[in-house]
Amino acid sequence: MNRKDDHIQLALKQEEEANDFDQIRIKHHAFPELNLASVNPEIHLFNQVFPLPFYINAMTGGSDQAAMINARLAQLAKYFQLPMATGSISTAIKNPALSKTFTVIKDIYPEGFIIANLGAGQTITQAKQAIEMIQASALQIHVNAVQEAVMPEGDRDFQHWLGMIKTIREGIQQPLIVKEVGFGMSRKTLMQLQNIGVSYVDVAGRGGTNFAVIENHRRNQPYDSFNRWGLSTVESLLEGEGISNMTVLASGGIRQPLDAIKALALGAKAVGLSGYFLKLVNQFDHLGAIKQFQLFIDEFKTLMGILGQTHIADLTKIDLIFSPSLLAYKQQLYENRHS
Ligand code: FNR
Repeated sequence: MNRKDDHIQLALKQEEEANDFDQIRIKHHAFPELNLASVNPEIHLFNQVFPLPFYINAMTGGSDQAAMINARLAQLAKYFQLPMATGSISTAIKNPALSKTFTVIKDIYPEGFIIANLGAGQTITQAKQAIEMIQASALQIHVNAVQEAVMPEGDRDFQHWLGMIKTIREGIQQPLIVKEVGFGMSRKTLMQLQNIGVSYVDVAGRGGTNFAVIENHRRNQPYDSFNRWGLSTVESLLEGEGISNMTVLASGGIRQPLDAIKALALGAKAVGLSGYFLKLVNQFDHLGAIKQFQLFIDEFKTLMGILGQTHIADLTKIDLIFSPSLLAYKQQLYENRHS
């Protein structure tokens, strides 16, 4: 079986687990002081307005099964006007016969905000090819050292990633988003990205799809140390608080509307979901998937209203209550920063 199909099967099998979003409670206030009908979940991102603060995050391409999943995801993206990222396009740059497994997204949703995804360590030429292939509105580069290290056939040389990302940032017109793949981002990482002029990051933290576990299933001798590696999405958002000139997007372990509310309350400007959408299109047909995600949106908007907020940006005002373990993390972050 090809690697992309392995990833899909193994990701589908991963069970939803408790994650750090469960370590945050939201304080209830009994007077929302608004009409629920006034809730407006639109966001301003990439100099555009999107009706919802959600996007379909990078997953797949490169096989027949992947093409079918991309088609279903694109139909959903079109219906709800969500931005959508492709899976890593490098496979189709090496083998152009595979490009249609990615371009199917643009065929279905030509007017959509489609984001081309590529791994770190790729050249500016490859970045331009990826953008060109799907006429992308933005480029997403994933930094996945842990995944590569655990992947039996993965890359082992991470020396030049930052410099190559800088060259790409300077050489393309489209917005560049740098993302992890489920291990999160520290303040040091975010500052390194800020220093090379990257202004969009997706922290893609721990708590959802776990690529150490997925790649360990593909190894004869698992590297078990990495199964619980990384910073959670919540921890990564705390790391990113107050960094200027940087738009932080949150993904990794968003299972339900409440998780999205908490991510936005911690300062994320939009929320990406991968595993959730993969399971949705795997389990339901197009109409069923629409119905399910509409329920997600309705619950999300109701939460906003009960919290007394009509706009997404105002979710940063809601009162959060952290568990002792998260509070300890916050405390150490503060100490680290001032030492
Ligand atoms: C991914 N992810 C991913 N990320 C990326 O940048 N390029 C890629 O090609 C892939 N491929 C991929 C395949 C499959 C099947 C899944 C489920 C995920 C990682 C993804 O974008 C995201 O960072 C993590 O999955 C964490 O988010 P969730 O799944 O917890 O919402």
